[in-house]
Amino acid sequence: MSHIVEISTDSLDGKEVSVRGWVYRIRSSGKLTFIVLRDSTGIIQMLSSTRSLSEEQHKELSALTIESSLEATGILHKDQRATTGYEIEIKNFKVYQRNDNFPVSKDLGEEFMLDNRHLWLRSREFTAMMKVRSTVFNAFADFYNRNGYYQVQPPIMVSTATEGGSTLFKVPFFGEEVSLSQSSQFYLETFIFSLEKVYTISPSFRAEKSRTFRHLTEYWHAEAEVAWIHNDEMMEIEERMIEYIVGQVVKHHEEELKILGRDIELLRKIKAPFPRIRYSKLMEMAKKEWGLDLKYGDDLGADEERAITVHFDKPVFVTHFPTELKTFYHLPDPENPSEILCHDLLAPEGYGEIIGGGERIWDLAQLEKRMEEYNLPKDDYYWYLDLRKYGSVPHSGFGLGLDRLCMWIMKLSNIKEAIPYPRTVRRTRP
Ligand code: 4AD
Repeated sequence: MSHIVEISTDSLDGKEVSVRGWVYRIRSSGKLTFIVLRDSTGIIQMLSSTRSLSEEQHKELSALTIESSLEATGILHKDQRATTGYEIEIKNFKVYQRNDNFPVSKDLGEEFMLDNRHLWLRSREFTAMMKVRSTVFNAFADFYNRNGYYQVQPPIMVSTATEGGSTLFKVPFFGEEVSLSQSSQFYLETFIFSLEKVYTISPSFRAEKSRTFRHLTEYWHAEAEVAWIHNDEMMEIEERMIEYIVGQVVKHHEEELKILGRDIELLRKIKAPFPRIRYSKLMEMAKKEWGLDLKYGDDLGADEERAITVHFDKPVFVTHFPTELKTFYHLPDPENPSEILCHDLLAPEGYGEIIGGGERIWDLAQLEKRMEEYNLPKDDYYWYLDLRKYGSVPHSGFGLGLDRLCMWIMKLSNIKEAIPYPRTVRRTRP
């Protein structure tokens, strides 16, 4: 038994081959039945006729329906008329299951397609998406493994918020309450005192009621934390990482990007370094150059970032946000403490933020002061504060939303198309 991609080659023209998979398309004209078979590697046309099969066998094949499962052996012919340039004339076969009508086909409405995501995953577009997604996840880990980072596994059930209490999911826990992790950052910070460079890929949870094109309540978060380095150096590492991931996708997925209708040439141009723009400068540009109604101090949401990033064809770093726009742990710029040494990386073509990161406050007194301003209970954060008591060092880190990265790389219109089983305000099944 071979995979379709292995036998789709001129060197097997006229030879016997065996494949197995699912019926992708079927059309019959009585004497001839064309079955397009699908497996994890591709599709191929197969021919059923009484020239090489009995009347009964031909009838059985002709009665198959979409997504029926079978294996077949036959002679491979190079054939320009066939969908994929090759055709197998079936000599022998075994049907594993003949379906009733497969309930899912394109354009049955968004909710129906989401209810049937477990079946829709088999579509060519979704298969292509999942292959690219797999490469994105692997490439992220690969990049950091090659650069001497350790992969660590922080907990998911936690008792401290990193990104503010309003987006915490609470979970009952033996008479108490815990939250689902919004970010592994604080735990990653604990690891750098022994491992120096660490990363993790894990789910993060946000209980925000946002219904934008880029919000999930459960998303895949790739985060890294590094001892001894500053905001600028962190951005350099990140731009090389993004270049590497996009490069891997371009290298391995020309076919999939074609199926998804993604212009590969635009992706080829994603090379570091990426532009770096201070928040204050970006607000000026937004008003003067693009006529947007934005001023210093405004927060950037999905709509604002869309309006800004349609003007870019490469990711862009936005740095030095006003202190009050971000949470307590960011290090204020010593030269201008009203701004912080942080960065967001905005994906181009209207996609917006894919990374949030920056330099952390590493002085105990400074951190305690910021926590007081935020009314945070020091007792709950005793372990985070301890890190500033024993051998504290400058350090930086970031969090990358992998689903958002996938959405941009594949130019999908909604984050729900970038993850197999999206969890949103209104959806927890299948
Ligand atoms: O900007 P955020 O909130 O930063 C943090 O959580 C930091 N503690 C990360 C760190 O420094 N280790 O989230 C980081 C990224 C965002 O840039 C975005 O890509 C993604 O996580 N993200 C979401 N993705 C999908 N749905 C959501 N609701 C998301 N919220 C954040």
